[in-house]
Amino acid sequence: MSPESTTTPGAPRIDSDTWDRSATTIQPRRAILAMPEYHPPLAGRTALRLDFNENTHAPSPRVREALGQLSLASFTVYPERTPVEAVVAQHLQLLPEQVLLTNAVDEGIHLVCFTFLEEGDECLFAVPSFFMYDVNAMGMGAKLVRVQADETLAFPFERFLAAITPKTKLIILTTPNNPTGAVITRDQIHTIAKAAPHAVILVDEAYFHFHGDTVMGNLVTTDDLSSRPERSEVEGPASSTPDVPQNILVARTFSKAYGLANLRVGLIAGPVSLMNHLRKASSPYNVNGVALAAVQASVGDTEYLDWYVSQMHEGRARVEKALDNMKVPRWPSHANFVLMHIGPRHKEFVAQMLARGVLIRDRSADPGLDGCVRITIGVEDQTTTGIAALRDSLAAMNWTPAEVNKPEIEPKDTPEYE
Ligand SMILES: Cc1ncc(COP(=O)(O)O)c(C=O)c1O
Repeated sequence: MSPESTTTPGAPRIDSDTWDRSATTIQPRRAILAMPEYHPPLAGRTALRLDFNENTHAPSPRVREALGQLSLASFTVYPERTPVEAVVAQHLQLLPEQVLLTNAVDEGIHLVCFTFLEEGDECLFAVPSFFMYDVNAMGMGAKLVRVQADETLAFPFERFLAAITPKTKLIILTTPNNPTGAVITRDQIHTIAKAAPHAVILVDEAYFHFHGDTVMGNLVTTDDLSSRPERSEVEGPASSTPDVPQNILVARTFSKAYGLANLRVGLIAGPVSLMNHLRKASSPYNVNGVALAAVQASVGDTEYLDWYVSQMHEGRARVEKALDNMKVPRWPSHANFVLMHIGPRHKEFVAQMLARGVLIRDRSADPGLDGCVRITIGVEDQTTTGIAALRDSLAAMNWTPAEVNKPEIEPKDTPEYE
């Protein structure tokens, strides 16, 4: 058959003179066209990485051991996620069916949006927060309802509750929140979940280990909590306790405290009824075998986790004290980073830090964060380097706290999320 004509019965006739064969006319779905882009500054991060909130050191030494035991032949096999999900579920005192391992929380957020959001549904979250919520919810054609925090950057609880409508289908609660470090209490989460029984509540606990509070315990199906280890990753009343909401999903990542950001692995945990939908939407091979081996080796190593978390707590206290001494306004943080207010010369400050070998993250484009910069907390010697660079950079700029309340020098026309 000639390519210039179609003879298939019922098919539209294509006129070879007017048929534009260039791929440039192809459009994606309208929601993808409207979706904002997310371009984190990932290139060439060879300086000290106090910019992305990953673990800045290394994962548990057990990971090297486990990876050393992988045979080359094992790379030829499709990965099997289920046995590792069972290990992680046991660690969290959940049933294996309650845990879905994902290609890090980024994929978890995508899967939750893909599974539960219809076009026009409302997706509610507070801002400033993690930008992947915007990207994924908009990509599904959902309506974003974003509740702006005030200048305290605390979670805007009352206004958030008031923003729930019959169309709210997905609520995302981030605790501790990135980039503010603010937290949401368990009582607040329960109140929100009960006020929106028609919605899925995704509690993003990516920074859980640095804070310690969690709603994971709500998912435990047994009342027998006596078996919980002293330092548990699970807290709170079990799901069988009256009044515990049944519409909560919890996201956790292995990128932060566990130090596996490069392997891309995280999880979504929840009631079996909701997890069944998510599992259906997920690829069976979404987490690779190297990541699975690393997760299996890491979950039991509380000694390593305790060490890393204590390094972070000590480092955060030192950075906060140094900022206070230099009179740099900052917000209280419950995570492995601190958000500070530098004012209109935020870009110059980031450049000064880089000139001293330290990467930090300009958050000025985030809603309500004009002039704000975030620094990740590392281990002891990295904290020492970071504090020295902070001091030297501000001194080199002749920075004074009086600058903080001056308006932006160049007003931004469109937000350029990074
Ligand atoms: C609040 C929050 N959720 C999720 C993520 C993504 O983590 P992952 O590396 O697991 O995709 C991040 C990463 O910075 C984050 O800040």
